[in-house]
Amino acid sequence: MTQSAVAKDWRSFEQLGAGVYPTPIEEMPRLRAALGGGPRLFIKRDDYTGPGFGGNKVRKLEFVLAAARAEGADVVLTIGGIRSNHARVTAALSAKAGLECHLILNGDAAPMPASTYLDELYGATIHHVVRGDQRKPTMERIADELRASGRKPCAIPLGASVPLGALGYMRAAEEIATSGIVFDALFHSTSSGGTQAGLVAGLAGSPTKVIGVSADDTAIDIAARVARIAAGVADLLGRKIDPKIEVDAGFIGAGYGIATPEGEEALDLFARCEGVILDPVYTAKAAAGVIARVRAGEFREGQNVLFLHTGGQLALFSRSA
Ligand SMILES: Cc1ncc(COP(=O)(O)O)c(C=O)c1O
Repeated sequence: MTQSAVAKDWRSFEQLGAGVYPTPIEEMPRLRAALGGGPRLFIKRDDYTGPGFGGNKVRKLEFVLAAARAEGADVVLTIGGIRSNHARVTAALSAKAGLECHLILNGDAAPMPASTYLDELYGATIHHVVRGDQRKPTMERIADELRASGRKPCAIPLGASVPLGALGYMRAAEEIATSGIVFDALFHSTSSGGTQAGLVAGLAGSPTKVIGVSADDTAIDIAARVARIAAGVADLLGRKIDPKIEVDAGFIGAGYGIATPEGEEALDLFARCEGVILDPVYTAKAAAGVIARVRAGEFREGQNVLFLHTGGQLALFSRSA
């Protein structure tokens, strides 16, 4: 790791200033009662981060798009599934930053998911591909074509899960660490790893154990990604960081985006007990992890457990008129 003379923090890096922070932390006493007691349960509302219907991508793209603009980029490209929250928020923030946006998306576009409809409203150009493995080469080809025509493209990797993006979750970690409540555990949905990398970097050495609940890949694969991104964060900041990485891959079910009975129960419980709407792809499965582990008695009365709501609720809708 390259150690610079003065250690930096996330404030040292330019941001768009587009998101709304700190996001609230609310207690969920009725959910706790429905689970038969146990630790106090809290939720951090990162579904309220603002542009593009909020969620975790706003925090990451704040940093990534500000750097792209500072480097003179005039067009942004990124990749995802047809309902990608990352793609939608990239489209929203690009519109706000005055950058042209191209999204390379795979998956079934009929009926049109709400997220895709918004991508178009935000003015993004959508390039459909059939399979996930066609996204990256297509993005590279379009970026080359744009470059050849005199444009300055910035290609953002999946989920903006790069060290610069993860700084957005160091900022969230700071909000959590300074909230006045000592959390024994923090659960959140994890996939491309940037959210978890920022959280484990920001909460390294704190009493809060971070548990990423996988939406898709194996615990080994995600933990390796998180470790790589967290090492990149340490390099960016010129600090030594010793992150503790735990990924729980026990709630994926049959696969990415395929509903599970535990996830459906979590959707119902959060909505009926707390008036909180989760999304079926990421947060419901992560919440199912919290519910199962609280029910199993992993945490005792007097402990505090935080669930990070990372957004994504538009997956519940498609455009019908
Ligand atoms: C709603 C939601 N939650 C969680 C995640 C996972 O975050 P990360 O990709 O940073 O691991 C995503 C990623 O797409 C998401 O859209």
